[in-house]
Amino acid sequence: MISDSYFMSKAVELGRKGMNRTSPNPRVGCVIVKDGKILGKGYHRYFGGEHAEINAIENASEDLTGSVMYVTLEPCSHQGKTPPCVERIIKANIGKVVFALSDPDPGIEGEKRLKGAGVDVKTGVLEEAAREITADYLIYKTKKRPMVTLKSALSWDGKIASFTGKSQWITGPQAREFAMKMRGEHSAVMVGARTVLNDDPALTYRLKEPGARDPLRVILDGNLSIPEESQIIGKNTLIIAADGDFKEDKAKIMEDKGARVIRVETDKGVITAHKVLEILYSHDISSVMIEGGGQTAGIFLDEGFIDRVVFIHGPCLMGGREAPTACDAKGASGPEKAAKLINKKYFEIGEDLIMQAEVEEKCSRV
Ligand SMILES: NC(=O)c1ccc[n+]([C@@H]2O[C@H](COP(=O)([O-])OP(=O)(O)OC[C@H]3O[C@@H](n4cnc5c(N)ncnc54)[C@H](OP(=O)(O)O)[C@@H]3O)[C@@H](O)[C@H]2O)c1
Repeated sequence: MISDSYFMSKAVELGRKGMNRTSPNPRVGCVIVKDGKILGKGYHRYFGGEHAEINAIENASEDLTGSVMYVTLEPCSHQGKTPPCVERIIKANIGKVVFALSDPDPGIEGEKRLKGAGVDVKTGVLEEAAREITADYLIYKTKKRPMVTLKSALSWDGKIASFTGKSQWITGPQAREFAMKMRGEHSAVMVGARTVLNDDPALTYRLKEPGARDPLRVILDGNLSIPEESQIIGKNTLIIAADGDFKEDKAKIMEDKGARVIRVETDKGVITAHKVLEILYSHDISSVMIEGGGQTAGIFLDEGFIDRVVFIHGPCLMGGREAPTACDAKGASGPEKAAKLINKKYFEIGEDLIMQAEVEEKCSRV
């Protein structure tokens, strides 16, 4: 007999296809099985679209009476942009629902409603795998902020650029494609002003599969120092600047090109990570990938707001006391205060070594 884990792994694979298109809704995948055969498959394709369960029911080739539904997240029980999934599940006479994760939204009572209607329910199957594709939604819902991932390309000695500010390229083409795919999974990407000044990145998503959505491009630019001609200035760009000596004229030019410029109150020109996340949450951003540089990421580390790191090590030694590293703000006062990494994974892509981990919660940082 094929196991529950096998079918749930198929649902996870499907859910992953949602990329950043479902945000701030979760990525969800679903398969419906009868007598060991998959009858229907579905995933949540885009924000506001049909949920995975409905797509799987509608895609099914046969009558679903007595079948088993495998879905990565608890089915919804409320009327949102689409009708409640539990009603369709009950109407389709599905006999059992296996889901991996409970929905942290207190308004969702999928399990209760299904059980009340006599549908068998099993939970917790392949929870960790489902959590990986749902992590941003879980943080967004429970912490009311986006999930924060720090992605950096580093030399083996931990530098993200040379002392002259050059970083292109520390890693090889395959690893850069891997990083580009990550960009397509986030609803926003973020850099600091010096990265724009030194590298002039476009920060667009350039692996255009059908329906691909560009992440919002966010720049932390306390003094509004980046040139108006930077590639990044345009639609889908949000610049966060300090209130102090705000340059109204320059902001107007940038806004005329389609960018949004927000000014915030600061202490000595430094915008807190907390404030940045509050702004992104208010823009419905459920995940943000910090793409550098060191100072920008450092402020997030110091405030305890990095959830996940993906470090891509290119096989070279950069050296240089003045060369930036991945997290260059204040830092920990001792190893016992360093943020602890858990769920670590290591793998190679081309010549580069990928080190991926989650940051343990509740790390006191100073
Ligand atoms: N290898 C990689 O993965 C990678 C990725 C990206 C960048 N890089 C390299 O990293 C270097 C830049 O890193 P960096 O650490 O020097 O600079 P950075 O973090 O890119 O930018 C720092 C500047 O951004 C603004 N800023 C950032 N956080 C802020 C905050 N919380 N509040 C107010 N302003 C804030 C400030 O601008 P103002 O001073 O104008 O206020 C600050 O001086 C570049 O050489 C680039 O090539 C490497």
